Amino acid sequence: MEASSQKTFYLETFGCQMNAHDSEKVVGTLLSQGYCQVPTVEEAGLVLYNTCSIRDKAEQKVFNRLNDYKKFQKQGKKFGVLGCVAQQEGAKIFERAPYVSLVCGSASYRNLPQMLVQLEAGKPRVTGLDDRETDECFETEFTARTNPHRGYITIIEGCDKFCAYCVVPFTRGKERSRASDSVLAEARKMADVGYTEIQLLGQNVNSYKDPAARKTFAELLAAAGEIAGIRRVRFTTSHPRDFGRDIIEAIDAVPALCNHVHLPIQSGSTRILDAMQRLYTRDQYMERVAWMRAAKRDISLTSDIIVGFPGETEEDFEQTLSLLDDVQYDSIFGFKYSPRPNTPSLKLQDAVPDEEKARRLAVLLDKQREIQRHNYQKHLGETIEVLVEGKNEARKQWIGRTSQNKTLNFSARGDANPALGSYVSVLATATFPNSLLGEMVV
Ligand code: 5AD
Ligand code: SF4
Repeated sequence: MEASSQKTFYLETFGCQMNAHDSEKVVGTLLSQGYCQVPTVEEAGLVLYNTCSIRDKAEQKVFNRLNDYKKFQKQGKKFGVLGCVAQQEGAKIFERAPYVSLVCGSASYRNLPQMLVQLEAGKPRVTGLDDRETDECFETEFTARTNPHRGYITIIEGCDKFCAYCVVPFTRGKERSRASDSVLAEARKMADVGYTEIQLLGQNVNSYKDPAARKTFAELLAAAGEIAGIRRVRFTTSHPRDFGRDIIEAIDAVPALCNHVHLPIQSGSTRILDAMQRLYTRDQYMERVAWMRAAKRDISLTSDIIVGFPGETEEDFEQTLSLLDDVQYDSIFGFKYSPRPNTPSLKLQDAVPDEEKARRLAVLLDKQREIQRHNYQKHLGETIEVLVEGKNEARKQWIGRTSQNKTLNFSARGDANPALGSYVSVLATATFPNSLLGEMVV
């Protein structure tokens, strides 16, 4: 055994699905460079963190983690910070954590092989910090996907929207779309090796512009849904401003497109939407909701909401609450506004005190829980197709996911043993605010 000469790495990922998928590409790249992935920091020669800076808490987690592992530096381990905190803080990370030797933002991952060579040659500080002007996408044939049934495909990177609160345009750079031919070729390859579900990813998928001008976003969706073997196509995240009716038409026309749309509103107050530079009003958002409600399929709608944006009054907040009544979302992610470096909203006055943000968030989530309780109850007695995603051995239950992206846990009679990755029909027998319970139908 040559255990000592084996190059090993440990990678921990924070943040969104884009980061999770970037990590799959980073792992693939490292494996192709002769590295072996290990499950603990202790076993690794190279320790990598793929970081998130969307809110202050996420950023703090990274520095806490680096602090925790300071003790390992004496053992000769090397540390690298990747992703949004790397891009945002740049070489300042070396000052805060001097034992770090690699700092690399997501727009520079394509240069990772050369950076690894420099690291291995003993260069103490290696950086990859391409700025937001890059035109390059990180396309690699070495993606190491973690799930054998369901996989991500990036269709657009970066963001040009510059919402007032958001750090993403600074950390992920300008918008650049990938050619539809390349996206579809990757989807076909995945179908060939057994993937049945694909998730098209981008910070703002509705801004997708095929560089070869072959397909609109809705046409790309439809084409992905028509690939033999692909049974489910999801996409995230949508921006209301660019969200076209043709997407709903595609969902109605192509059964493989999941009947779920995540369409973040951020606030129910047009005044606050304006201050956030979201580029739409509450009425325009509600128009898109009406399109979805008029669709032939039952489209599940989910959202992101920020409370306590600077200047948000009690009345503005009430409007967000009334929006929940009007839309009846199936789920929301609620966040307290967190000031971020470089963003335009840093300069705004009238900060909302943290306790008030916390109160508003609790009120928001309480209200949403009741809406969800009611929404989920409607599924009682329905027979729903699920993708079997896991098993809870202790409860003798399987974990299924519906096309609407709801969790449906189920039991199976006798010795039925549905395989992970298969699709089965389940009768919903009980409902909760966040999940459904049922029995497999044979
Ligand atoms: N503070 C709080 N929430 C934020 N988000 C983005 N930036 C911030 C911020 N500065 C939320 C938005 C976005 C989601 C991914 O994170 O709701 O849709
Ligand atoms: Fe951030 Fe707005 Fe771009 Fe979404 S659309 S990533 S919230 S700037």
